[in-house]
Amino acid sequence: MMFVQNLGLLIILLSLINTSYSYLYPQHRVAFNPRGYVSTINKICIHWFDYHQNEISSDCNITADEPSSKTSPANWSIGYSLSIHTEDGTLHNEPYFWWDGWVNGIYCNDIHLHLIEGGLVLKESFNLTIVYDKCFWE
Ligand SMILES: *[C@@H]1O[C@H](CO)[C@@H](O)[C@H](O)[C@H]1NC(C)=O
Ligand SMILES: *[C@@H]1O[C@H](CO)[C@@H](O)[C@H](O)[C@H]1NC(C)=O
Ligand SMILES: *[C@@H]1O[C@H](CO)[C@@H](O)[C@H](O)[C@H]1NC(C)=O
Repeated sequence: MMFVQNLGLLIILLSLINTSYSYLYPQHRVAFNPRGYVSTINKICIHWFDYHQNEISSDCNITADEPSSKTSPANWSIGYSLSIHTEDGTLHNEPYFWWDGWVNGIYCNDIHLHLIEGGLVLKESFNLTIVYDKCFWE
């Protein structure tokens, strides 16, 4: 009898775990505004993360010389990071995680590439803002 009760508890626990695994995360629009020394950019990639904070997919089809946006994959994506591949190397940004929050929020990534140290070093100034209508450049 004890065994049967424990088995019942186990089944309930397993179904709870299963429910949290099938949780649907909201989709977000992520917008980009590359500007400045964009001629040095080879490509810009967006990397999508799942709830294990593992990168599951990426998309490098982001225009380097004009504003654009991407919508996160349905249901499993909890956030993103960007990598900007330039002639001087690759600039990475810390991942941003929305988890199940910021529903309908738009992630505006203002990406400014400029030169510092006497015009020798390419520097990226990165300004992320979250808005609910449109990014300032749209
Ligand atoms: C990449 O972007 C261009 C221009 O927006 C589009 O025509 C093309 O289909 C895209 N390719 C992929 C693989 O998404
Ligand atoms: C996301 O979840 C909804 C609701 O369960 C479902 O209808 C849709 O097919 C899912 N989309 C993907 C890409 O899995
Ligand atoms: C980032 O962008 C917002 C919106 O345009 C602006 O108010 C803010 O001053 C910017 N921050 C920096 C550090 O440039």
